Amino acid sequence: MAIERVIDTTLHDDDSEESAVEFSLRPTNFEEYIGQKRLKTNLKLAIDAAKKRGDVLDHILLYGPPGLGKTTMAGVIAHEMGANFRATSAPSIEKAGDLASILTNLADGDVLFIDEIHRLRRAVEEILYSAMEDYKLDIVIGKGTGAHSVRLDLPRFTLIGATTQTGSLAAPLRDRFGHNFRLEYYAPTDIKSIIERSANILDTQIKPEAASLLAERSRLTPRIANRLLKRVRDYADVNGDGIIDVPTTEAALKLLEIDELGLDPADRNMLNLMIEKYGNRPVGLNTIAALTGDETSTIEDYYEPYLMQLGMIQRTPKGRVVTELARKHLGKA
Ligand code: ADE
Repeated sequence: MAIERVIDTTLHDDDSEESAVEFSLRPTNFEEYIGQKRLKTNLKLAIDAAKKRGDVLDHILLYGPPGLGKTTMAGVIAHEMGANFRATSAPSIEKAGDLASILTNLADGDVLFIDEIHRLRRAVEEILYSAMEDYKLDIVIGKGTGAHSVRLDLPRFTLIGATTQTGSLAAPLRDRFGHNFRLEYYAPTDIKSIIERSANILDTQIKPEAASLLAERSRLTPRIANRLLKRVRDYADVNGDGIIDVPTTEAALKLLEIDELGLDPADRNMLNLMIEKYGNRPVGLNTIAALTGDETSTIEDYYEPYLMQLGMIQRTPKGRVVTELARKHLGKA
């Protein structure tokens, strides 16, 4: 069984609770959006240019590890364009007809966001090609000899696709995005600012040193930072006066078994299993997934990116290798 993780970067119900306070943790404009400076500079230029021409924004592909704010950024882009934001995710679009219905319901200038766009089914994806390129929808009406296709006009819209894996995007789809941006891990100082901003919105006091400590343990990822903040706030409310200081933060993180580098029991379990069973030898992705009881995509999207960023795992043509740094960290050097 896969271990349930506080530091996982999938969206949980309590991240997107529609209570006004929780929801407002998400920045709505560039000014509020901390970090991703390069991305913001490029996007601002594209947005200003589109506005100046009175044109729609070119389609945008956002990629990078989960939890870095792709959905949030898509919402910010729509806001900055003064456009409607329509969000969906590829797994929820089952048939070509589902996408046709989404597209025909768009209005001129709308921003359509498709999360996990690498998971679109083939038949659905093919509808997107002409929609993106010519704002046309090709649909087949009828069956057998009576079948014929019609071409419908669509409103001019901007597609924003988000993916954790650009490699698994079909080339014809990837090529139809005018912009292709990678979201980077955040600097610890930016994570600290995000934590302080969120604490302020949640009406919780956090000491600057506690915010720094929490930032160090948040895997350079805002979604994790915000989730940890809420768990530490719980701890401070129950065991103290509600003010988050360093001792409270340390105690709460200890309870959550999150170590100095932000690794949780699931990370350590995976690394330990790899070392115990395979030593210095490379381990294939399927084998790692079998060892931990996770899906391969979970290993690729949720465990690996940060462990690679830390230099604890290396990818080789023969599989993944645990590095000396990881051995040292786990006391197995
Ligand atoms: N909350 C989550 N991500 C954020 C970001 N990049 N800036 C500000 N607040 C955030």
